Amino acid sequence: MSQGVTIWFTGLSGSGKSTIARILEKRLRQVGRKVEVLDGDVIRTNLSKGLGFSKEDRDINIKRIGFVCHLLTRNDVVAIASAISPYREVRNYNRSLIGNFVEVYAKCALDECVKRDVKGLYKKAMAGEIKGFTGVDDPYEEPLHPEVVCETDQETAEQSAERVWAKLIELGYLNL
Ligand code: ADX
Repeated sequence: MSQGVTIWFTGLSGSGKSTIARILEKRLRQVGRKVEVLDGDVIRTNLSKGLGFSKEDRDINIKRIGFVCHLLTRNDVVAIASAISPYREVRNYNRSLIGNFVEVYAKCALDECVKRDVKGLYKKAMAGEIKGFTGVDDPYEEPLHPEVVCETDQETAEQSAERVWAKLIELGYLNL
């Protein structure tokens, strides 16, 4: 029986976190693992409904996601969190809480995220219609020691997923 683990994606909006998360989800299911994806956008429509984007609200959101990941991980599930999670301290809080924690930094130049602008929110943020948008006028604290860095403006989502996969094997979370 393989032990549970939390794969924690952090990075700017549009950096490709959720795309890589979904590829991993599929691959993990194919090898028989139980997997749950906790996606920031989805969590904010239910578990964190009503929370905004102040530092305080983001920290509450990230702690909630971390708590659910903790419950799943101790039951041998692979929990995959995908949220901007811009603050280092609360990410590290979750790391301590969960233990089996693989932090993946979806690293993408802001210019590229703006160019992609999948949800059209950067355009609004840059026009001043949305205040406190991460990377525009709100901070993003890069992880100092992430287990994996995915340079998503230089590699495909498949390649990124492959590197996370290799790290899971290396750390003993995947016994194939
Ligand atoms: S987090 O900061 O609390 O981790 P989370 O990942 O849940 O953020 O939600 C981010 C998503 O909310 C973004 O991808 C974007 O679609 C939307 N969003 C709306 N307002 C903001 C904002 N001010 N900053 C960042 N994302 C925002």
